[in-house]
Amino acid sequence: MKFEDIMRQSCNLAGEIMMDNFGLNKEIKSKGPNNWVTEVDIKIEKKIINFIKKHYPTSSFLAEESNENNGVRSDLHWIIDPIDGTNNYIHNYPFFCVSIALMIDGVIAHGSIYDPNRKEFFYSEKGGGCYLNDKPILVSSNHNLSQTLLCTGFITSNKKYAQANVENFKNLLYKCRSIRRDGSAALDLAYLACGRLDGFWELGLNPWDTAAGILLVTEAGGAVTRINGDTYDINKKDIVASNSLIHGDLVNILKCDL
Ligand code: IPD
Ligand code: CA
Ligand code: CA
Repeated sequence: MKFEDIMRQSCNLAGEIMMDNFGLNKEIKSKGPNNWVTEVDIKIEKKIINFIKKHYPTSSFLAEESNENNGVRSDLHWIIDPIDGTNNYIHNYPFFCVSIALMIDGVIAHGSIYDPNRKEFFYSEKGGGCYLNDKPILVSSNHNLSQTLLCTGFITSNKKYAQANVENFKNLLYKCRSIRRDGSAALDLAYLACGRLDGFWELGLNPWDTAAGILLVTEAGGAVTRINGDTYDINKKDIVASNSLIHGDLVNILKCDL
């Protein structure tokens, strides 16, 4: 099966489980201070990994809720966030998604993000553009920061970013049209890729939050760097992504001294 089809089917499996359990009482476990996982996250992750293994048995996985390969990476390395936006999911707030990226020989080659509420499947293959439900998408063409809609996320499981988050928010709030904090970094990046948002930044993210989204954004014509403008690295915690036209403005304003 083609990688695109594997991703599409995995996303559909995940979406079905999310929606079947949406609004129902779920078992919720703590993974640390203000860091939660539901039985649904775990069920989805297992389902996706088993499905992929059936088709590509030599695959390795970096998945949020399990330690499948003890850090060993094969040529086909899948990076999975079974539910991005778990807090939203727990509170029946319909903004969450599944995110799946595939690294081939160390390079992110395919990325998919699926929002089961809106039935929106975002997909990108490196060098092949970016698609929403099979239609090509591009980032916005807004170049005037004062007319932009931005988005950010505040990690609540680690207080070390609190001060920087407040400062960055304050410094940008009156320079743009408005700022959202939607609670799903992966879906935020997908929204940037299709032009609904003009820029996004966050401190404290993990590879499964961003791996698929950064491919979507760059393939849709956007830019992704670290907060200080350096080359983005999924193993580093900070990210700024944009339609590329306002990237310099964002990098100049955002700060992270950690
Ligand atoms: C979280 C979401 C949220 C972001 C957090 C992430 P999770 O992922 O992406 O928007 O602010 O930093 O941890 O825990 O819902 O998969
Ligand atoms: Ca996540
Ligand atoms: Ca998650």
